Amino acid sequence: MDSKQKIFNILNRAEGVISGETLSAELGISRVSVWKHIKGLIESGISIISSPTGYRMTLDPDSLVPWAFGARQDRIHYFQETGSTMDEAMVLARKGCADFTVVVAQRQTCGRGRMQRTWLSADGGLYFTVVVRPDIPMMLAGLVNLAAAIDMANLLRSMYQIDTCLKWPNDILVNSHKICGVLSQMEAEGDQVAHMNIGIGLNVNNAPETEEPIAISLRALLGRPVPRREILVAFLDAFEKRMLAFDPHAVLDEWRLNNVTLGRPVRVITVKDRVEGTAVDVDFHGGLILQLADGARQTVMVGDCFHR
Ligand code: BTN
Repeated sequence: MDSKQKIFNILNRAEGVISGETLSAELGISRVSVWKHIKGLIESGISIISSPTGYRMTLDPDSLVPWAFGARQDRIHYFQETGSTMDEAMVLARKGCADFTVVVAQRQTCGRGRMQRTWLSADGGLYFTVVVRPDIPMMLAGLVNLAAAIDMANLLRSMYQIDTCLKWPNDILVNSHKICGVLSQMEAEGDQVAHMNIGIGLNVNNAPETEEPIAISLRALLGRPVPRREILVAFLDAFEKRMLAFDPHAVLDEWRLNNVTLGRPVRVITVKDRVEGTAVDVDFHGGLILQLADGARQTVMVGDCFHR
């Protein structure tokens, strides 16, 4: 733990003001160094009031800086602004970062969605990518995406009492409006997954509906701003637990229970094709099984699904 993190922890635990002298004695560094670290913390968005008697921190519950994540802080990589957390995560994953490393950004300049779409990434939304290294064959990778959407949908339902449901493959909807999307990238070694980077964009305190009428934010639904850190922490708690004991059958059962796609007539647009039929089930790899007009069945692995 570096001095900046130690200062953060001391101020975070403290009830009131902590003098510069106390910090310099506890850390064994000069008062000037203490001040430089305090300045660094302030620049990264932490609110620290300095007075003649010392420093006092008020931790903004919305702050996503690593120090605010306690024991997880070493695995959190925070960016005030980046192109896409997917790209940052890929660099870290290829360098061998730990399982459950997280890249989170305040905003993205080139946020991307599935099927080469842009993901609006203004201030206020929650944009992050988790690197996971599950010990599973490549053919089960699609289920990890479903699992991430299930865990996020569950926590939004239980923490904020909103009626989330899943649209194939892993969109989270509330009243037919999209609140969250999941994008993943994977690299393999042989036929085993080496790492999967699961990128999640959740509309929290941003206003995507001004540009994207089918989108909705948590703030618009609840009529109040929501601190993003509690969402990220709850997601990581649930998703880490799930991935450490990954059960493909449980993922499929939960997805079937919470989806709004199965049983409906749908149109799926794939990169080269368009398929229409009734969505009847998901297969063991997370593919959508369609019953076509002539009674034949076709499974689609990747695509954009429109409910008709
Ligand atoms: C979709 O529904 O099309 C998926 C959207 C995924 C957006 C997230 S935001 C964090 C991560 N970084 C990106 O550039 N995209 C994903």
